[in-house]
Amino acid sequence: MDEKKRILSGIQPSGALTLGNYVGALRNWVELQKSDEYDCYFMLADMHTITVRQLAKDFRKNAIDLLALFLACGLDPEKSPIFFQSHVPAHAQLGWVLTCNTYMGEISRMSQLKDKSQKHEGNIYAGLFTYPSLMAADILLYQADLVPVGADQNQHLELTRDLANRFNNAYSETFKVPEGYIPKIGARVMSLQDPTQKMSKSDPNENSYILMLDSPDAVVRKIKRAVTDSGSEVKRGEGKEGVENLMSIYCAVSGKTMEETEAEFLGKGYGDFKTAVAEAVVETLKPIQARYNELMANKDYLEQVYRNGAEVASRTAMKTLSKVYRKVGFIQP
Ligand code: TRP
Repeated sequence: MDEKKRILSGIQPSGALTLGNYVGALRNWVELQKSDEYDCYFMLADMHTITVRQLAKDFRKNAIDLLALFLACGLDPEKSPIFFQSHVPAHAQLGWVLTCNTYMGEISRMSQLKDKSQKHEGNIYAGLFTYPSLMAADILLYQADLVPVGADQNQHLELTRDLANRFNNAYSETFKVPEGYIPKIGARVMSLQDPTQKMSKSDPNENSYILMLDSPDAVVRKIKRAVTDSGSEVKRGEGKEGVENLMSIYCAVSGKTMEETEAEFLGKGYGDFKTAVAEAVVETLKPIQARYNELMANKDYLEQVYRNGAEVASRTAMKTLSKVYRKVGFIQP
């Protein structure tokens, strides 16, 4: 029998999701799940979020919001477990074993650590340092073949592979060595105010990003204010990064190609183009927001989804953890 390849995906509930998270990640997950080619696990990486101090009330809200958005975007909990990392204790348990197999040297080299420590200067907890070993545990527990990650996570995935190989060599074959998965489609959405930067919810300028839960008015206003250039043509090219970013957003939400978009707006100015982009984004977000509102009114259902998800995920995770505990020499309880 041909076993399906397994995919583990995760997002942190660290704040409101942007259009970039949707176009670059969530939407692809929905497609992967629909394709039935893979056996998927969808994790809300809440233990990663506390590497930076959270206000409990906001954190709780962000976590439930993210779960509702997962579902609102079309992830099906009947097909794949959708779970909170903190509900599956094996993550912390394997995370510790892997931390004890990670060299100080290799973990010090992680470039995200440098970025984040600069951002949170004076408030850096050790968890921010050991975070990549926990992320490795997330992946290796499920014996994932593939992990869809953006460029900012490549170094962590590389470390995960090193840790898997190191453990397998030291203790005999235990972990599948995972690979990154780069989706066939999926645009990288850049900041609306500075198209050389990735669209990010942690940007202090709220006009730089579109949130998945932004109202139609907010979407229109932010797109109207998006930086373009002093020209007027809707096309790609040197110095036209702002327009190009809007074009790729338009393509991502309308399904059109860049060529079709250039043709569609030939001879029209930025005003018309921005109106069309805003409309297309609003139309994409509308059904997701409607479904989100329904789900948020049904907390019992959300609870059922994450409880069931944790139960299924725990079963898979425990199989791996027991092997690891036995191999490192812990006495069987
Ligand atoms: N570190 C990832 C991020 O910040 C989130 C994450 C945690 C993750 N564990 C994971 C992603 C496992 C993929 C697989 O975006």
